[in-house]
Amino acid sequence: MFFLQTNNLSYIPQRFLHSLFLCVIILIIFCIVFYSSFLAYLFLLQYIPSEIIRKEMGIVDGQTEERLDKLLWSFLNDFKEGKLEGNGWPTSKSAYTVSKVAMNTYTRILSKSYPTLCINCVSPGFVKTDINFNTGIFTVEEGAKGPVMLALLPDGSESGLFYHQTNPSTFE
Ligand SMILES: NC(=O)c1ccc[n+]([C@@H]2O[C@H](COP(=O)([O-])OP(=O)(O)OC[C@H]3O[C@@H](n4cnc5c(N)ncnc54)[C@H](OP(=O)(O)O)[C@@H]3O)[C@@H](O)[C@H]2O)c1
Repeated sequence: MFFLQTNNLSYIPQRFLHSLFLCVIILIIFCIVFYSSFLAYLFLLQYIPSEIIRKEMGIVDGQTEERLDKLLWSFLNDFKEGKLEGNGWPTSKSAYTVSKVAMNTYTRILSKSYPTLCINCVSPGFVKTDINFNTGIFTVEEGAKGPVMLALLPDGSESGLFYHQTNPSTFE
Protein backbone atom coordinates (compact mmCIF):
# COMPACT_ATOMS: atom_id res chain seq x y z
CA MET A 1 0.00 0.00 0.00
CA PHE A 2 1.19 3.54 -0.61
CA PHE A 3 0.23 7.00 0.55
CA LEU A 4 0.20 10.02 -1.72
CA GLN A 5 -0.01 13.45 -0.11
CA THR A 6 -1.33 16.03 -2.58
CA ASN A 7 -2.51 18.82 -0.36
CA ASN A 8 -0.18 21.77 -0.28
CA LEU A 9 -1.59 24.55 1.80
CA SER A 10 -0.12 23.82 5.15
CA TYR A 11 2.43 21.68 6.83
CA ILE A 12 0.08 18.75 6.71
CA PRO A 13 2.49 15.78 6.59
CA GLN A 14 3.50 16.17 10.18
CA ARG A 15 -0.04 16.59 11.42
CA PHE A 16 -1.05 13.60 9.41
CA LEU A 17 1.77 11.40 10.54
CA HIS A 18 1.09 12.21 14.13
CA SER A 19 -2.45 11.03 13.91
CA LEU A 20 -3.38 7.79 15.48
CA PHE A 21 -4.75 6.73 12.15
CA LEU A 22 -1.33 6.79 10.59
CA CYS A 23 0.25 4.97 13.48
CA VAL A 24 -1.93 2.08 12.42
CA ILE A 25 -1.59 2.62 8.70
CA ILE A 26 2.20 2.85 8.89
CA LEU A 27 2.30 -0.79 9.78
CA ILE A 28 0.95 -1.72 6.36
CA ILE A 29 2.14 0.99 3.99
CA PHE A 30 5.46 0.94 2.26
CA CYS A 31 5.76 4.16 0.22
CA ILE A 32 4.96 7.73 1.23
CA VAL A 33 5.14 10.43 -1.43
CA PHE A 34 4.93 14.10 -0.56
CA TYR A 35 4.24 16.68 -3.25
CA SER A 36 6.94 19.29 -3.24
CA SER A 37 7.61 22.08 -5.68
CA PHE A 38 10.15 23.76 -7.94
CA LEU A 39 12.98 22.26 -9.91
CA ALA A 40 15.31 21.43 -7.09
CA TYR A 41 15.50 21.59 -3.37
CA LEU A 42 18.08 24.36 -3.31
CA PHE A 43 16.07 26.40 -5.79
CA LEU A 44 13.25 26.54 -3.28
CA LEU A 45 15.46 27.21 -0.29
CA GLN A 46 17.00 30.28 -1.91
CA TYR A 47 13.61 32.01 -1.75
CA ILE A 48 14.10 32.39 2.00
CA PRO A 49 16.07 35.62 2.42
CA SER A 50 17.49 34.93 5.90
CA GLU A 51 20.64 32.84 5.80
CA ILE A 52 20.04 31.77 9.40
CA ILE A 53 16.54 30.48 8.60
CA ARG A 54 17.76 28.85 5.38
CA LYS A 55 20.41 26.96 7.31
CA GLU A 56 18.11 26.07 10.17
CA MET A 57 15.37 24.81 7.85
CA GLY A 58 17.71 23.02 5.51
CA ILE A 59 19.81 21.03 7.94
CA VAL A 60 19.02 17.41 8.52
CA ASP A 61 21.78 16.15 10.78
CA GLY A 62 20.64 16.96 14.29
CA GLN A 63 17.33 18.24 12.96
CA THR A 64 14.23 17.19 14.84
CA GLU A 65 10.52 17.56 14.27
CA GLU A 66 10.34 19.76 17.37
CA ARG A 67 13.04 22.09 16.05
CA LEU A 68 11.34 22.34 12.67
CA ASP A 69 8.00 22.90 14.36
CA LYS A 70 9.43 25.73 16.44
CA LEU A 71 10.62 27.46 13.27
CA LEU A 72 7.21 27.08 11.66
CA TRP A 73 5.51 28.54 14.70
CA SER A 74 7.85 31.52 14.55
CA PHE A 75 6.94 31.90 10.86
CA LEU A 76 3.23 31.90 11.74
CA ASN A 77 3.75 34.42 14.53
CA ASP A 78 5.78 36.69 12.28
CA PHE A 79 3.09 36.37 9.62
CA LYS A 80 0.36 37.40 12.06
CA GLU A 81 2.42 40.29 13.38
CA GLY A 82 3.46 41.55 9.93
CA LYS A 83 7.12 40.80 10.59
CA LEU A 84 7.88 38.47 7.70
CA GLU A 85 10.17 40.82 5.82
CA GLY A 86 11.90 42.12 8.95
CA ASN A 87 12.67 38.65 10.19
CA GLY A 88 13.95 37.28 6.89
CA TRP A 89 11.03 35.20 5.70
CA PRO A 90 9.88 35.25 2.07
CA THR A 91 7.15 37.80 1.43
CA SER A 92 5.90 36.41 -1.86
CA LYS A 93 4.12 33.03 -1.74
CA SER A 94 5.49 32.88 1.78
CA ALA A 95 3.27 30.13 3.22
CA TYR A 96 3.70 27.99 0.11
CA THR A 97 7.48 28.33 0.07
CA VAL A 98 7.98 27.80 3.79
CA SER A 99 5.63 24.81 3.94
CA LYS A 100 7.34 23.15 0.97
CA VAL A 101 10.82 23.72 2.40
CA ALA A 102 9.61 22.28 5.72
CA MET A 103 8.11 19.31 3.94
CA ASN A 104 11.33 18.61 2.07
CA THR A 105 13.28 18.62 5.32
CA TYR A 106 10.60 16.60 7.03
CA THR A 107 10.82 13.99 4.26
CA ARG A 108 14.46 13.49 5.15
CA ILE A 109 13.85 13.41 8.90
CA LEU A 110 11.06 10.89 8.44
CA SER A 111 13.04 8.66 6.14
CA LYS A 112 15.70 8.40 8.84
CA SER A 113 13.10 7.64 11.50
CA TYR A 114 11.39 4.97 9.40
CA PRO A 115 14.17 3.19 7.50
CA THR A 116 11.91 0.35 6.42
CA LEU A 117 9.59 2.74 4.57
CA CYS A 118 10.25 4.48 1.29
CA ILE A 119 9.57 8.18 1.88
CA ASN A 120 10.29 10.68 -0.87
CA CYS A 121 9.10 14.06 -2.08
CA VAL A 122 8.47 15.05 -5.66
CA SER A 123 7.92 18.14 -7.70
CA PRO A 124 5.45 17.23 -10.44
CA GLY A 125 6.55 19.98 -12.83
CA PHE A 126 4.43 22.90 -14.02
CA VAL A 127 1.15 21.06 -14.51
CA LYS A 128 -2.16 22.46 -15.82
CA THR A 129 -4.32 22.43 -12.69
CA ASP A 130 -6.44 24.80 -10.63
CA ILE A 131 -3.45 25.88 -8.58
CA ASN A 132 -2.02 27.82 -11.53
CA PHE A 133 -5.34 28.56 -13.28
CA ASN A 134 -4.48 25.88 -15.83
CA THR A 135 -1.46 27.75 -17.14
CA GLY A 136 0.92 24.81 -16.65
CA ILE A 137 2.77 23.19 -19.52
CA PHE A 138 2.29 19.54 -18.56
CA THR A 139 -0.95 17.59 -18.63
CA VAL A 140 -2.23 16.09 -15.39
CA GLU A 141 -1.24 12.65 -16.70
CA GLU A 142 2.33 13.84 -17.34
CA GLY A 143 2.45 15.49 -13.92
CA ALA A 144 1.30 12.30 -12.25
CA LYS A 145 4.13 10.20 -13.68
CA GLY A 146 6.73 11.06 -11.02
CA PRO A 147 4.45 10.72 -7.98
CA VAL A 148 2.96 7.46 -9.24
CA MET A 149 6.39 6.06 -10.06
CA LEU A 150 7.55 6.86 -6.51
CA ALA A 151 4.41 5.41 -4.98
CA LEU A 152 5.09 2.14 -6.78
CA LEU A 153 8.80 1.82 -6.02
CA PRO A 154 9.83 -1.71 -5.13
CA ASP A 155 10.83 -2.78 -1.66
CA GLY A 156 14.35 -1.63 -0.74
CA SER A 157 14.33 1.46 -2.98
CA GLU A 158 16.14 4.58 -1.88
CA SER A 159 14.32 6.83 0.55
CA GLY A 160 14.57 10.46 1.67
CA LEU A 161 15.14 11.85 -1.82
CA PHE A 162 13.84 14.84 -3.73
CA TYR A 163 12.59 14.13 -7.25
CA HIS A 164 11.79 16.49 -10.07
CA GLN A 165 9.16 14.57 -12.02
CA THR A 166 10.76 11.14 -12.51
CA ASN A 167 14.34 12.28 -11.94
CA PRO A 168 16.12 12.19 -8.60
CA SER A 169 17.77 15.44 -7.60
CA THR A 170 20.11 16.11 -4.73
CA PHE A 171 19.20 18.06 -1.64
CA GLU A 172 22.61 19.70 -1.50
N1 LIG B 1 0.35 22.14 -10.66
C1 LIG B 1 1.63 22.51 -10.59
O1 LIG B 1 2.18 23.13 -11.52
C2 LIG B 1 2.43 22.16 -9.36
C3 LIG B 1 3.80 22.49 -9.37
C4 LIG B 1 4.57 22.16 -8.26
C5 LIG B 1 3.98 21.52 -7.20
N2 LIG B 1 2.64 21.22 -7.21
C6 LIG B 1 2.08 20.55 -6.05
O2 LIG B 1 1.28 19.46 -6.44
C7 LIG B 1 0.26 19.27 -5.45
C8 LIG B 1 -1.07 19.12 -6.13
O3 LIG B 1 -1.40 20.38 -6.68
P1 LIG B 1 -2.36 20.53 -7.93
O4 LIG B 1 -1.57 21.13 -9.03
O5 LIG B 1 -3.07 19.25 -8.18
O6 LIG B 1 -3.30 21.64 -7.34
P2 LIG B 1 -4.87 21.74 -7.29
O7 LIG B 1 -5.46 21.28 -8.58
O8 LIG B 1 -5.18 23.13 -6.85
O9 LIG B 1 -5.25 20.70 -6.18
C9 LIG B 1 -4.97 20.92 -4.81
C10 LIG B 1 -5.76 19.90 -4.01
O10 LIG B 1 -5.53 20.14 -2.63
C11 LIG B 1 -6.79 20.18 -1.98
N3 LIG B 1 -6.69 21.10 -0.85
C12 LIG B 1 -6.26 22.38 -0.87
N4 LIG B 1 -6.31 22.90 0.37
C13 LIG B 1 -6.78 21.93 1.17
C14 LIG B 1 -7.03 21.85 2.56
N5 LIG B 1 -6.79 22.88 3.36
N6 LIG B 1 -7.50 20.68 3.05
C15 LIG B 1 -7.73 19.62 2.24
N7 LIG B 1 -7.50 19.64 0.91
C16 LIG B 1 -7.04 20.78 0.38
C17 LIG B 1 -7.76 20.70 -3.02
O11 LIG B 1 -9.06 20.27 -2.66
P3 LIG B 1 -10.34 20.99 -3.28
O12 LIG B 1 -10.37 20.67 -4.73
O13 LIG B 1 -11.44 20.35 -2.50
O14 LIG B 1 -10.17 22.44 -3.03
C18 LIG B 1 -7.24 20.01 -4.26
O15 LIG B 1 -7.76 18.69 -4.39
C19 LIG B 1 0.33 20.46 -4.50
O16 LIG B 1 1.01 20.06 -3.34
C20 LIG B 1 1.17 21.47 -5.29
O17 LIG B 1 1.90 22.32 -4.44
C21 LIG B 1 1.86 21.52 -8.28
